Parts: sequence; C-alpha cells; structure tokens
Amino acid sequence: MADFSAQNRRGFNAPTRFEATVYDCETVGQVPTDIAGAFVRVGGEYLYPSKYKDDGPSSDGYISSFRFKNGRVNYVGKWVKTTHFKNNLAAHRQLYGYYRNPWDDDPSVTDVANPQKRGVANTAPIAHGGKLFALKEDGPPFEVHPDTLETIGPWDFHGKYKSQTFTAHPKIDPVSGEMICYGYEATGPASKDLWVYSVDKKGHVSHEWRATVPYVSMMHDMALTQKHIIFPSGGYVTSIEQMKAHKNHWFWDPHKGSYIGVLPRDGDGKDMRWFFGPKRCFMHTFNARTEGNKVILEAPFFDDNFLFSMLPTTDGSAYGKMDRAKIRRYVLDLDSKSDQWSEEILWPMQVSDLGRIDTRYITLPNRYGFTGYIDPEKPFDEKRGGNMRGRATNIYARFDFRDRKLDNYFVGDVHSLGECCFVPRRGSTEEGDGYLIGVASNFAEMRSELIIADARNLAAGDIARVLLPFRAGALHGVWVEEKELPFGAVNQTMKG
Ligand SMILES: [Fe+2]
Repeated sequence: MADFSAQNRRGFNAPTRFEATVYDCETVGQVPTDIAGAFVRVGGEYLYPSKYKDDGPSSDGYISSFRFKNGRVNYVGKWVKTTHFKNNLAAHRQLYGYYRNPWDDDPSVTDVANPQKRGVANTAPIAHGGKLFALKEDGPPFEVHPDTLETIGPWDFHGKYKSQTFTAHPKIDPVSGEMICYGYEATGPASKDLWVYSVDKKGHVSHEWRATVPYVSMMHDMALTQKHIIFPSGGYVTSIEQMKAHKNHWFWDPHKGSYIGVLPRDGDGKDMRWFFGPKRCFMHTFNARTEGNKVILEAPFFDDNFLFSMLPTTDGSAYGKMDRAKIRRYVLDLDSKSDQWSEEILWPMQVSDLGRIDTRYITLPNRYGFTGYIDPEKPFDEKRGGNMRGRATNIYARFDFRDRKLDNYFVGDVHSLGECCFVPRRGSTEEGDGYLIGVASNFAEMRSELIIADARNLAAGDIARVLLPFRAGALHGVWVEEKELPFGAVNQTMKG
C-alpha cells in the first residue's frame, strides 16, 4: 500500500499520483493562435514512497503535455510505464532502493544488471526522428505516444545504440538534424565507459565514439558545437563497494576537482581532450560554440553539491546549504598545452540552473539565455501563499550575453516558477523572437498555471495563462512543433 505519512514531500510538492486529461483548459487572456505544438514535460511522481527519505531521483517517471492549437490548450498527464513502475504496481509497494543502486533492491527484483529493469524515465523529454521519449541518464529512453502519452517501451535505435544508459539532455544539431547523445557508466554501474552516439534525423545511429572518463562522476548534461561535443562532469564519486554496502550511488567529494571533455565530431574516441579545474558542480548548460581552436561554453553552473539534500559528502560533513547557480563562460583552448580551463562569471547574481536558449541556435553563436531567479525585493503574500518568501523563483529573465542586459518577468506574489522554455514565433528565424513559457506553482490556490509571455518583452507581463485545476509539477520540458511528431487524435478535439 502507499503510505506517505513518513515522507517529507508535503504541501505543494505532495504526490498527486493520478493521470489526467483536461480538454479546453481554462485560460486567462488570449492564447496566441500561432502557437501550434506541444509543451511536453517530464518529472518524478511517487507511486509509492521512496525506501529512503533522502532518495529523490528514484521517483517514477511522469510525462505531461500542454497541446496548443487554434488558441486552445488541452492537457494530458500520464505515468511513464517503465518496468520499474509496473513491478512496483504489481507488488503494491516500493521494491527499489537507492537511485541507481541495483544491490539495494528488494530480492524479488531480478535481472538487476539490466538497466531497462530499473530506469525510471523521470527527468526530461525529447522529440527526435518522429518519436517522443521520456529520459533519464540511468537507463534507456522510453518511447511515448505523442497524443495519448501512453508508454510504448524502451528504445534502442534499431539495435544500434549499445550503451546501457542514455542521456538526460541530448542535443539536436539544428543544421543537420542529428541528435547527439551518450551513455556514461555505459557498460554497467561505476564503469568508466562513455559511449557517444550520433543519431540522424530519421532516427538511425550514424556514428559511435567510445571513450573513458578520468574518473566516474555524474554527467547530467552536455553541450554541442558544429565541431565538438562537450562533456562537463565531476565532483560526485561512486564505487561498486559503496553500492554493495547499500549506500547511495553518488557521494559528493568536496576535495575533488572537476573535468570537461571535448570530443571532435569528426574524430575518434581517443581524440577526446580532457580539461581540468577546481571543484564545480556541473548540471545544465546553455550552449557552446567553436571559435577557431577554442571551444566556448556558457552555463549556469554551481560551485558546490547541488543535490545536497539527496547526496551525502564523502567525509561525512553536513550535506550543505542551497547554493544556486551563477552564469559562467568557459574557454577550452585546444591549442594550449595546458589542460586547465578558464572561467568567467558573467553575472554575479544567483540564478536557477534550469537555463534554456532558443534551441534553433544550439551549436551556433547565440545572444540570449533564459532562466529564473529569486528577487527578494518583489512582494510575496505570506497570508495567501505561505512561507515561501525569499524561496520562490518569482522572475524569468532573458540574459543578453552581448549587451549584458536583463529583461525581467515577474510572475506574481503567491507563485514560484519552474523551468522555462522558448517557443519560436511562426515564420520568424530571428533569435529570441517568440514566446517564453513555463509552469508556475500557485501556492494560494494550490494549482499550477502555464505562463505565456513575449520573449522579447518580458517586462510587459504575460500574454495569457493556462490554468490547471490541480498541482502539476515537473522537472524539465521541451517545446515540440506540430510538424515534429505524428500528432493525430488530439487534433480532432481542437478544431475550429
Ligand atoms: Fe536536468
């Protein structure tokens, strides 16, 4: 049975656990009629409580979609029916232990070496090659039907994707249509194997690179240029011994430096160049580009253990405090004999590391990054919104890397913003011309609402909001243009 009384997820973050379809969502303002496609999000939801209070990453995958057409919006939310989910449901309890630790599972879980049996697909979606996937870096991608969001199953790209694991945040080259993805710990838990793949725009593996990492660490995101693939990692450490001792897969080593790999797209795995630097926690990137023989990477990275509430330190010291990210620029000089990177902090302020760009500019020089931050000077109504003052992400900002300027959107005095996403304006190719969307938590009304703002004039406030009659949190989302996926049945309900 599901008993959540001992869990620390309460209030707005308490499990919802239901699947949902909402036709013709309630809206405030006019949803622009030139937005046609789906805002698809993936996050973790709790079918059963985690075995441990401090184990967040093992929640079951949940995928949801705001489907836009003709100024109307439908919403669908479904569990990702992984083997993990189905086994738990059949047993009516949580069978799985710590995240990515197969030695900590219930004895009834067999074939533990196969990550298809453990993968939870609870991190991010991506659409590529006419298919929609729910992803997590611990196992295979799970294909999901674009209309119904019913799970089709794990996908191995016609048997040509050989890594046991996949990527939380693959990148799609807007010029060639290729998806570049990778699996770290590719041959099993704690393995140093990093296997990298190019998948052509029709969904077939076109190239594989095999490399080994300096030491095994979490590699949550990557970046891509027209010439190079960039792999930031480090800080977290693992071992088979600690897993067999029923501990976390990852510990944060506060004394460990980090590394960034640079792989030439036209080279071989042995051509990977590793750069090293001080302790950093690399989670999400904005973008990268190759200028001559230099690779420039821009990203909202942390100085310290970001997952402090989930992953302990190697020396037993306190997990740490909330450390938000700072937007940085890294230069990786391939002509240099030094293996050190150079780093510049572009804005002194702390921001959410869930940064996004206009994805048509992935691999290319780009001017804008979008992410959220906390402005403590903005009002917060504690009477209606509870004790979230100073903790609610109340601003979406467009960071102008060229002019170092900000354009800010304020969401309201009882809200907190999740990850944003850029939607290009139909017919325009200009960077940043379109809409900025994202889902806000409304603490006063205990429900979620989708924000739609003009990405070139955030200060003007939102154009429209789509109101859901329930809480619908998620982690990451992507915008999928209508032409990218074989949408069908849902269109019938949105005519006119
Ligand atoms: Fe992520």
